[in-house]
Amino acid sequence: MKTLVTYLSQTGKTQKVAEAIYGELTEEKDIKPISEVKDLAGYDLAFIGFPVMQFDIPPKMRSFIENNTKGKNIAVFMTHAVPEGFEAIQSWTGSVRQTVADANLLGIFECQGELAQHVIDMLLKAEDPQMKAFGEMGPSTKGQPDESRLKKARQFAKEIQSKVK
Ligand SMILES: Cc1cc2nc3c(=O)[nH]c(=O)nc-3n(C[C@H](O)[C@H](O)[C@H](O)COP(=O)(O)O)c2cc1C
Repeated sequence: MKTLVTYLSQTGKTQKVAEAIYGELTEEKDIKPISEVKDLAGYDLAFIGFPVMQFDIPPKMRSFIENNTKGKNIAVFMTHAVPEGFEAIQSWTGSVRQTVADANLLGIFECQGELAQHVIDMLLKAEDPQMKAFGEMGPSTKGQPDESRLKKARQFAKEIQSKVK
C-alpha cells in the first residue's frame, strides 16, 4: 500500500493540512507539491489538496485531477477563507465531485485557512464587491488552520486509509 499526499498551496495553509494528513499515514508514503507530480502511477491512494480560489478549484489542479484520477482511489482536501458551514462550500464540494467523477472518491475534507495579508490588501482594492467582502473578513481567518482543524484532518486521513487497506 503506497499513498501520495499532493497539494497546491500559495501561502502554506493547504500545505499544513497536507502535512497533518501525511503525518498520520502508516505504510509507504510520499508528500509532494503538485508541481513535482507527473501522474499517480504506482500509488494505491492519493490525497489531493488545494485552496479554493475564485469560488472554485484552481484551474491547474482541476486539469491534473481530470487527466490523472480515472479509476484511482482518491481523497480531496481543501482550504478556504470562509468559515466552515458557509453556504457556498456546498457548491465547491459539488464541483469537486463533478471533476473527480471517474475516480473512486473516498472522501472530501475542507477547513478554513488564513487569508494572507497581501491577499487581503489585494482583495480590498478589488472592484468586485464579492472579492472586497472576502478581504474584509480576512482578519477573522487569522491562525487557521488551527490545531482543532489539523486534528480533524488527521482523523480524516485515518478514516480514508482504513477504506483502502
Ligand atoms: C486569488 C485568491 C482567490 C481566493 N478565492 C477564495 C474563494 O473564492 N473562497 C474562499 O473561501 N477563499 C478564497 N481564497 C482564500 C484561500 O482559499 C485560503 O486563504 C487558503 O487557505 C489559502 O491556502 P494556501 O495558503 O494553501 O494557498 C482565495 C485566495 C486567493 C489568493
